[in-house]
Amino acid sequence: MSTPRRLRRILALDDFEAAARRYLPRPIFAYVSSGAETQWSLDDNRAAFAEYGFIPRVLKDVSVRSQQTTLFGETYDAPFGIAPMGLGSLSGYRSDIILASAAAKANIPMIVSGSSLIRMEECAAENLRAWFQAYLAGDSAHIAAMLERAERAGFKVLVLTADTAALANQENYIKSGFYSPLRLTPRLLWDGLVRPRWTCNLFAPTLLRHGLPHFENSQATRGASVLSRKINAEFDSRGSMTWKHVELIRERWKGRFVVKGLLHEEDARLARECGVDGIILSNHGGRQLDGAVAPLRALEKVAGLAGDMTVMLDSGVRRGSDVLKALALGAKFVFIGRPFNHAAGIAGEAGVLHAVTLLKDEIHRDMALLGVTRLNEVGSECLLRVR
Ligand code: FNR
Repeated sequence: MSTPRRLRRILALDDFEAAARRYLPRPIFAYVSSGAETQWSLDDNRAAFAEYGFIPRVLKDVSVRSQQTTLFGETYDAPFGIAPMGLGSLSGYRSDIILASAAAKANIPMIVSGSSLIRMEECAAENLRAWFQAYLAGDSAHIAAMLERAERAGFKVLVLTADTAALANQENYIKSGFYSPLRLTPRLLWDGLVRPRWTCNLFAPTLLRHGLPHFENSQATRGASVLSRKINAEFDSRGSMTWKHVELIRERWKGRFVVKGLLHEEDARLARECGVDGIILSNHGGRQLDGAVAPLRALEKVAGLAGDMTVMLDSGVRRGSDVLKALALGAKFVFIGRPFNHAAGIAGEAGVLHAVTLLKDEIHRDMALLGVTRLNEVGSECLLRVR
């Protein structure tokens, strides 16, 4: 398939960000791309990868290589997937559906967000193998109702996000004019007007065809609208979630169960003891606790005590070489957020598939240059800490 013209100059995942900056209203772009506070964690996510270098092997027959990966009994075409992202359909028209359908075509996993503005059932209809990520309060009735809804929708993998005990500092959003709940300020309207493609492709059709967006997946029934003050109460209720509730979910959820957003080895041990199937090491892409270390730094220790749990990682993965470094340090799989969000925004499904192809091509090339034909040959002996 030939690459659409508007994507021809996008040659790496980072290039999507520059294109999204030109396409999105300033507050929406800031919501997606920024990190919390001084963005120390956002920066550390990239810096951590730069602290490792490869020691490649040469003159091995690497003419046939595969990056297929089996995860929870499913075989995927790449060792990466699409991380859950809330409010996606403010940057791409019906973005979650686009991401779900592109992931199905590319045969990679995609995680539907608990803060999505599209109903989880619609995403599941598009991609039967999508996973669902829940934000849950420490309330057994709420948990039971949410699990029942996700199960009824057909999800087989449930991801509980654990690093949002409080709403992140909104400082950087406010500076750019983004508010949660959204505020229809003159400045927001102006920012929309100077981005006419976004207004025509997303804003107008969303309002005309679907009305005011609501948080569709934070409750067992439809949640509040993006303008409602009630959403902050929902965020606050997450602070009561504990490992006792993780045990409860484990008892009730028949499918695979993943906890996302931990970094401490003791939390990994607790997850294992609760019978969790997998963990995603993450600092939420540097969007929650500013100062939380890059997950890559915690990876080796956690992988060493994970036992049967599948160890995955996200935050700052942008290159095929980053994926291979994470695998070398003990991850089985990685997830990527912002570049897929931008790709869906600027070019819809073609953009997301282009992003997948770019990253797969990098991994394929890097495997040959590293001297491996399968991903399970990538171990810590391939790496040297250089800084
Ligand atoms: C997120 N993230 C996130 N995580 C989650 O569990 N549920 C969610 O609803 C969201 N929402 C969200 C929105 C946006 C705009 C972004 C950028 C991120 C975090 C996400 O799943 C993932 O952890 C990070 O995006 C990974 O970092 P990178 O790849 O964006 O650097």
